[in-house]
Amino acid sequence: MLIIESIADMRQFVRQAWAAGKTVGLVPTMGALHEGHLTLMRQACAACDVVVASIFVNPTQFGPNEDFAAYPRDLASDSEKAAAAGVAAIFHPSVAEMYPTGFSTYVRVEGITEKLCGRSRPGHFQGVTTVVNKLFHIVQPDKAFFGQKDAQQVLVLQRMVQDLNMDITLEVVPIVREADGLAKSSRNVYLSAEERQAALVLSRSLARAQQAVAAGECDVAVLRELVTEEIAAQPLAAIDYVELYGYPGLEDIDRLSGRALLALAVKIGKTRLIDNCILEAKACF
Ligand code: PAF
Repeated sequence: MLIIESIADMRQFVRQAWAAGKTVGLVPTMGALHEGHLTLMRQACAACDVVVASIFVNPTQFGPNEDFAAYPRDLASDSEKAAAAGVAAIFHPSVAEMYPTGFSTYVRVEGITEKLCGRSRPGHFQGVTTVVNKLFHIVQPDKAFFGQKDAQQVLVLQRMVQDLNMDITLEVVPIVREADGLAKSSRNVYLSAEERQAALVLSRSLARAQQAVAAGECDVAVLRELVTEEIAAQPLAAIDYVELYGYPGLEDIDRLSGRALLALAVKIGKTRLIDNCILEAKACF
């Protein structure tokens, strides 16, 4: 497996793949690879002839008081994992390669970026759409693979691809969880043993809402309250948001009818974790 650091070399690699008539898949990541990323890579390898995984901790999607500097970086271990998953090349550019002096062009999706993580992390999605746009231009993949754990990110990127007429198929892969329900995340490494246990409150509260919906509850305020109550009972947890919106449009709803996104952002100690599930109203009372 190759590790490619320059945009010129990345383009050259992709040109060779095209010349050999191969399809190209891209798995954009910030590294600290876990089973969630590796699932994306394996699916990409099953669907495309040549798979590129990018590993780039993207400064423009972090706020000034966020964990850009502390974000876990381990290229050696990531490379081994990506190679074992079947990836042909890692694109690992420097910040200066991606954002040279004078860089001043950004891509911004309006509307759906103003809720959930977009509200809590101003500028975050502009950083995501800008860097993903750049990666799409550099690698020009046939397909790009993203995880449903970042449900809003997926919706924002789908909007961008549609609005900018990009000829790229976005493939969305379900959330990968630990055996006890915790969603896999690169940020889980920040958790102490006690916090790791406390973090189970995210998946537990989602399960509680799913059970309530299965039992016929459709009132959004009631469902939010159930989830909030469950999280509030965990002393190490501080809620950033518990929100329910129509899915995939993220429109405000009072009652479930059809599909809805239940999304959480919760701080466990200093670590901000997100999780979500899609609720589907069957029989409402
Ligand atoms: O989901 C992520 O890890 C990042 O937001 C992404 C898509 C790699 C862009 O930096």
